[in-house]
Amino acid sequence: MPKHKFVLNGKSVSVDVDDDVRLLWVLRDLLKVTGPKYGCGLDVCKACTSHINGKAFNPCSVRVKDIKPTDHITTIEGLPATVGKDLHPMQEAWLEMDVPQCGYCQPGQIMAAVAKVKQARREGHEIRESDLDEIRNICRCGTYHRIRDAIAAGAKHM
Ligand code: FES
Repeated sequence: MPKHKFVLNGKSVSVDVDDDVRLLWVLRDLLKVTGPKYGCGLDVCKACTSHINGKAFNPCSVRVKDIKPTDHITTIEGLPATVGKDLHPMQEAWLEMDVPQCGYCQPGQIMAAVAKVKQARREGHEIRESDLDEIRNICRCGTYHRIRDAIAAGAKHM
């Protein structure tokens, strides 16, 4: 089987797996990194949201062969290390606001939130209501109000 290499949460990894296997299954089943959740497998529900080179993406819909050896993939497990702390400020805000209900969608929600704050800053502004409206991660428990409040609070400490 072909060998695929990339950087996962700051460490180089290498996997022997068919080219067409979606990255989510490489992360979860082969590398045992289970923060990114399986929801739809179609890039719709966004439960698996992670970062590629600092931007949000959905590994359920990316073939492992489309990942380059130099690509840096970050999952919720690796998020705190990006700021050199035990928890990322967005995770602290999530705890402070007691956001999760069942919790299934929450790793993806936090990863989407961090990417959206960074995107807003690259565009030269702080995160706005209209940016929050663009986050498409589904929460079956309907915790959207707390998610939005937590993103605003977390952004202040990023
Ligand atoms: Fe249950 Fe979001 S907290 S799906």
